[in-house]
Amino acid sequence: MSTDLDRTTVEEAYARWAPIYDVVFGAVFEPGRKAAIAQVERIGGRILEFGVGTGFALPAYKRSNRFVGVDISEPMLQKAREKVEKERLTHVEGLCLMDGAQMGFADASFDVVVAQFVITVVPHPEETLDEMARVLRPGGEIILVNHLGAEDGLRASFERWFARRARKLGWRPEFQLARLRNWARQNGTVEMIEARNVALGMYTMVRFRKLAADATGEAEADDKVMMAG
Ligand SMILES: C[S@@+](CC[C@H](N)C(=O)[O-])C[C@H]1O[C@@H](n2cnc3c(N)ncnc32)[C@H](O)[C@@H]1O
Repeated sequence: MSTDLDRTTVEEAYARWAPIYDVVFGAVFEPGRKAAIAQVERIGGRILEFGVGTGFALPAYKRSNRFVGVDISEPMLQKAREKVEKERLTHVEGLCLMDGAQMGFADASFDVVVAQFVITVVPHPEETLDEMARVLRPGGEIILVNHLGAEDGLRASFERWFARRARKLGWRPEFQLARLRNWARQNGTVEMIEARNVALGMYTMVRFRKLAADATGEAEADDKVMMAG
């Protein structure tokens, strides 16, 4: 049995979720969204909403920002397009069907990359994070919010057991913060600057800052960040 998610599984899962996604997940994800959106607004500018899904977060952003949304699921994107049209979301520059592991954007073309409830469901998390870092300008931030797996204890055991069953839903419940720390260390162009519990620990918000070109290789991300919140 494959213990990982492939593109077909993710596409099939989100084709099933698309018609009911906002009703099922809209309110559940709200505290995580608020935390991420506040951090995005602190920087502002040209923003990549990675794994934009049905575009649930888009109406909440200030119109002074400019947004590009990408997603691998056409049915999810179709919902986002309808929202942009219906709610006249003029701050949305474009919505693109794209696999995050290979994005067609120039280097350093965004001030912020935000991914809400996405990184644990992408087929290739490390390659996708590499791409997020590539398209981000030096000084810009990658902002992730997600449920992350427990490192140990009963919850960790349950998440390992549930992992196999969760693949069909397009989830990786056992994905841990350590995997993000390791990625930042290996990538070398970013440092992890915050990992904070949100909504009584239901979600974790993680922020990475892109280093200046001459500072890459000096990041010791995991030594600097303590879990807070
Ligand atoms: C749980 S939904 C989150 C949607 C949205 N960010 C939100 O907060 O409601 C995860 C989204 O990630 C998308 N996704 C998964 N893998 C992807 C990839 N490799 N590239 C782009 N989007 C991807 C899925 O299609 C889905 O729309």
